[in-house]
Amino acid sequence: MPHIKVKPISHSVWESIDQLTELVVFRADPLNGTDYLLGIEYQGEEFLLQRKREKELDMLKYDKVTRPLKVSLIKEVLALLALDLKLEIVSSNIAQSREKPPLASQAFKKIKDFESIAYPFETMAVEVGFGSGRHLLYQAKKHPERLHIGIEIHTPSAQQVLRQIELQGLKNIWVVNYDARLFLEMLPSNSCEKIFVHFPVPWDKKPHRRVISPSFTEESLRVLARGGRLELRTDSEKYFWYSMELFFALPQAEVCIEKNIDPTVTSKYEARWKRQEKDIYEVQVTSREHSEEKSLEIDFSFSDCGYRAGLEDRLPPKAIIEEGYFVHFEKIYRIGESRLLLKCAFGSFDRPEHKYISVDKEMCRYYASTPVKTSVNQQAHQKIVEYLHV
Ligand SMILES: C[S@@+](CC[C@H](N)C(=O)[O-])C[C@H]1O[C@@H](n2cnc3c(N)ncnc32)[C@H](O)[C@@H]1O
Repeated sequence: MPHIKVKPISHSVWESIDQLTELVVFRADPLNGTDYLLGIEYQGEEFLLQRKREKELDMLKYDKVTRPLKVSLIKEVLALLALDLKLEIVSSNIAQSREKPPLASQAFKKIKDFESIAYPFETMAVEVGFGSGRHLLYQAKKHPERLHIGIEIHTPSAQQVLRQIELQGLKNIWVVNYDARLFLEMLPSNSCEKIFVHFPVPWDKKPHRRVISPSFTEESLRVLARGGRLELRTDSEKYFWYSMELFFALPQAEVCIEKNIDPTVTSKYEARWKRQEKDIYEVQVTSREHSEEKSLEIDFSFSDCGYRAGLEDRLPPKAIIEEGYFVHFEKIYRIGESRLLLKCAFGSFDRPEHKYISVDKEMCRYYASTPVKTSVNQQAHQKIVEYLHV
């Protein structure tokens, strides 16, 4: 990722950096760490750069949390900063290349896209943890009238399937490289015909990490249209019984069980278990009800919040753990006399959000971008508001 290493930046340049270049809108000094930050505004984007001291040199580098989508912007800013501040570059990796972003494809969707996405097909199917994508590609070809959304947490698998989609010219697949446990929340109610969960990781020693959970089954039934089906296939007897307990507790669902059926497409995993003559369970959960519409109108504003003297000492240094979510004010930076920048981790334990929050005397806001609109993030946000309330 882009960085430049330069001869040490003088104290006088650093102290007045926001006056020496239009790119820097603020400098943030750490109260509990060693990395300094620069707030950048360039071509309508705002993001942070970090300054680190490394072997007698200063390194200016991108910040992971606020990284803009176009990496070339960071490179341009680093080059312009060096010019404006007359920095002596010792080494860098900012030569512009015609690089293609690794997941650039029409079929690739980011989780945030779903906050305002238009669905171009009338019906859809979701496949959770598609692995090699054999079943996903098969379904998309078999049902061209349907949109197939595949969610896979493992980036190389997502990339491999994106390449297949391009090669085969398929127009009815979207790939989301995200955690399926949180994804269903983004979908409209009654929108899916199928949800496939084929051979999920059993997590027998850490059942809380399983894809299927009470909230997953609840969300599945919300997004399934009446008559739509969730299909679980597993070779794990423990997973099977665990899921059965959850499915039977759903009053609005019909559950049907089969064993060792012969599916039209067999995945790599399934083929292996079959060779070993293992039992394979298939459970179909059919939704019997039409669900209420769900609004994604989650509010991440900070009313009546702001900076008051001593706030930095009142924020808890350790993570605040609540039922189903947490909030951790990881790092605190000072910007001038009466503004803080907080680096915060929060939300779900398995897939936390990392965001900066700018805390000014008059107002607070998430710096650069707001969190993903999930209910755990909203709960965590409310907790953050309690601490920043004036
Ligand atoms: C055992 S493999 C099965 C792959 C495929 N469904 C099949 O039948 O061959 C489980 C897949 O689920 C993916 N996975 C695990 N946890 C996930 C999660 N929380 N969200 C999305 N994908 C997940 C893994 O990366 C892996 O590709």
